[in-house]
Amino acid sequence: MLDLLIKNARLGDHDASIDIAVKYGRIEAVTPDIRAEAVKIIDAEGCFVTAPFVDAHFHLDSVLARGRPRINRSGTLLEGIEIWGELKPALTVEDFHARAMEFCRWSIARGTLGLRSHVDITDARLLAVEALLDVRETMKPFMDIQLVAFPQDGFLRSAGSRDNLERALDMGVDVVGGIPHFERTMSEGAESVRQLMRIAADRGLLVDMHCDESDDPLSRHIETLSAETCHLGMEGRVAGSHLTSMHSMDNYYVSKLLPLMAGAQIHVIANPLINITLQGRHDSYPKRRGMTRVKELFEAGINTAFGHDCVMDPWYAFGSHDMLEVASMGLHVGQMTSQGQIQSCFDAVTKNAAAAMQLDHYGIAPGNFADLVILDCQSAFDAIRLRPARLYVIRRGHVIATTRRSHPELTLGGKAGSVNFVTAD
Ligand code: FE2
Repeated sequence: MLDLLIKNARLGDHDASIDIAVKYGRIEAVTPDIRAEAVKIIDAEGCFVTAPFVDAHFHLDSVLARGRPRINRSGTLLEGIEIWGELKPALTVEDFHARAMEFCRWSIARGTLGLRSHVDITDARLLAVEALLDVRETMKPFMDIQLVAFPQDGFLRSAGSRDNLERALDMGVDVVGGIPHFERTMSEGAESVRQLMRIAADRGLLVDMHCDESDDPLSRHIETLSAETCHLGMEGRVAGSHLTSMHSMDNYYVSKLLPLMAGAQIHVIANPLINITLQGRHDSYPKRRGMTRVKELFEAGINTAFGHDCVMDPWYAFGSHDMLEVASMGLHVGQMTSQGQIQSCFDAVTKNAAAAMQLDHYGIAPGNFADLVILDCQSAFDAIRLRPARLYVIRRGHVIATTRRSHPELTLGGKAGSVNFVTAD
């Protein structure tokens, strides 16, 4: 007896319908026409089924704090950091906890079951760390959360950061973070990378740094990060988030940089929603788009994911944590409109993000966890185009969220009919 049997699902464009058998929280079979008894049967009616969305770059500590204590008037990264600095002293463990928990409910409803969140460790009280470690454990049955020790005010620039960061890691934070472009000088930025990489190497931890989130083409900390990765033998264990300065670098330098990053097996996490709004703020016209060179990174074989980064906080006022909105923005900003590139943008919010987080047993294949999302559409292309309802969100074989189909009803000249926006193949 199976625990769950999903009938008539589609894995991709033009694919024949398949069935998915689930037992003990794992996928047992993915094949057409499974005939077996099951505790629960879902008829997917030809809808698209995917492994869950994964957001490899987020900030749970600042989420849903928009307008506290004031709105970001300039819309810049630096005013966002200022506002966050004003708000931090007033926040409590309960406040951090309540906002993060509410947000996790939003994520699950949208089918996002993997989340890497940076947590600011530059306040010595580490209240956000305390709160988010509890959120990570409480949400474990429903989603995988990784925490990154993030020195928001600078690792070398902000007094006590090393001690705070080491204490956060001792408390159980998973990943070492950094922000080299926010240190006082280029050389201190590079030094911060070296020191943080050493801490990660000594503790056997993954690394994910905010890196070169700047329009300055000379912000080249990704070079140091890649070189240190190779030097310490940490290939495949290090991520560079944002990397927006690559947008403004000259092509010759990038032609040297990409192979260095590929050799270090760096994971890249671009954040299209926030970088299209934050970057280029000092430009008149033409205005730079600011997102890193996603198309070229894909072509260089570098694992590249998209993150949401922020939802309703001092840096970004919008969003409901729909990773399909992120994929859509990334596709538009990067002009990735070929069929292969569209699929790559979908991968950037699913399997590439899971690879960056090193999530185990992810993906629709026998033996993997039965974590699945059934969407009200028939392909990854339509998922990005329509951002449809997540009809079923399934975790370890259990349905944990449902959304009803919602198709507009028209009455034209007395004739009623519904619109579902799906075109024939
Ligand atoms: Fe970030």
